[in-house]
Amino acid sequence: MKLTIHGTGYVGLVTGACMAEVGNDVLCVDIDADKIQQLLDGQIPIHEPGLAEIVSRNAAAGRLNFTTDIDVGVQHGILQIIAVGTPPGEDGSADLQHVLAVAESVGQRIDEYKVIVDKSTVPVGTAEKVQAEIAKALAERGTEVDFDVVSNPEFLKEGGAIADFMKPDRIVIGSQSGRATELIRTLYKPFSRNHEKLILMDIPSAELTKYAANAMLATKISFMNELSNLAELCGADIEQVRLGMGSDPRIGFEFIYPGCGYGGSCFPKDVTALAKSAKQLDYHAELIHAVENVNNRQKQVLFNKIAQHFGNDLTGRTIAVWGLAFKPNTDDMREAPSRVLMEAVWAAGGRIRAYDPEAMEEARRLYGERPDLVLCDSAREAIAGADALAVVTEWQEFRSPDFDFILEQMSEPVIFDGRNIYDPDNMASLGFTHYGIGRAARRLGAS
Ligand SMILES: NC(=O)c1ccc[n+]([C@@H]2O[C@H](COP(=O)([O-])OP(=O)(O)OC[C@H]3O[C@@H](n4cnc5c(N)ncnc54)[C@H](O)[C@@H]3O)[C@@H](O)[C@H]2O)c1
Repeated sequence: MKLTIHGTGYVGLVTGACMAEVGNDVLCVDIDADKIQQLLDGQIPIHEPGLAEIVSRNAAAGRLNFTTDIDVGVQHGILQIIAVGTPPGEDGSADLQHVLAVAESVGQRIDEYKVIVDKSTVPVGTAEKVQAEIAKALAERGTEVDFDVVSNPEFLKEGGAIADFMKPDRIVIGSQSGRATELIRTLYKPFSRNHEKLILMDIPSAELTKYAANAMLATKISFMNELSNLAELCGADIEQVRLGMGSDPRIGFEFIYPGCGYGGSCFPKDVTALAKSAKQLDYHAELIHAVENVNNRQKQVLFNKIAQHFGNDLTGRTIAVWGLAFKPNTDDMREAPSRVLMEAVWAAGGRIRAYDPEAMEEARRLYGERPDLVLCDSAREAIAGADALAVVTEWQEFRSPDFDFILEQMSEPVIFDGRNIYDPDNMASLGFTHYGIGRAARRLGAS
């Protein structure tokens, strides 16, 4: 099938690459000329495991192409897949300007039947807006062309995006057109080999499903973080509680890790946008607001522990930060807890030595050169002379470091373990002061 993907970010590029991998003829369109040039030069603008190989293989085979030319883009695919960003607008609701810009461009150019597929995360009612935008552009041209709009929210997760796309748990389609549904069914057939993954529903339900899924996952995290704060106050260990809870199959172990807050390009903005959508319907989404508030508070927890440890004075202190990406296996630092921590340390007069296996370039882009930030080439380099180490992202390479080396390098052996990846008793026996999340601190010299 001929597909056009509008937006070549995490979702658009992964979708384009995976759709080409199963034999489709894919054209990716983006307004970012630098990004398209990089892709034409064989470079991948994002870090996503396995993506580079699939892109280069399919580009070489001629099944995956890139352009900024919207005329060629609209001409190319019978399916026009919208995968542009939907960042938070000023009031927190999803900003649909990019989605509607694509709809307008499509409406200005189509001359034969096409299906416009909303893959971006968009609030209920967006498919209708896309439909209206295309109809308006057609009316302005004085032309009538048949088209359908369907909703097809994307559930891939960064860091595991290829596997999620190639072997999806489910493919949600909101459609009210039999013709469009059949095309989408054909498109997704290769991804439903062992059983049917496609869940067909009405368009508003498909649009809401994406927010519901993300808000549920965010709720699980905030719930555990809320409990972790309570555990610290009442002398319980949240990691033991987690094991006791998770072994109930109705609860399960997935997504109940306490930590220093969720980040990324999806959960924060989608939770906020869902609350905003509710507000527009005169409904106060109590739980959704709480999830957001708990997370915002949780992102301060590591800093609060650090500040308290140093008597609320970080002047002249250097904090080593391991992990800048919002989660492992990505270079994405959007809404990352590391940013909240670093900015708080700077505001308190402290300095940062930071390391992340993939996000160094992104950190450089975000913060540039500043005297209170040293971007290091390795985890070992980051701890040199540091007064404390904060582990913010649970990358594999941080899980079992050479603790003797760390002890030698740091001016004070203090670890703030924002992801509970170290055993507190083990840390204490090695000679560290260890602060975890939701568990008692082990302080050197304390009995
Ligand atoms: N990142 C994820 O893990 C993820 C997962 C599921 C769903 N989503 C949703 O998918 C959508 C895209 O997210 P993303 O992370 O890929 O965004 P992104 O910011 O990485 O990429 C968006 C791309 O769209 C391009 N763009 C903007 N306007 C355009 C236009 N008019 N025509 C063509 N291209 C245009 C931008 O230049 C950019 O390259 C969002 O709605 C997001 O919520 C993201």
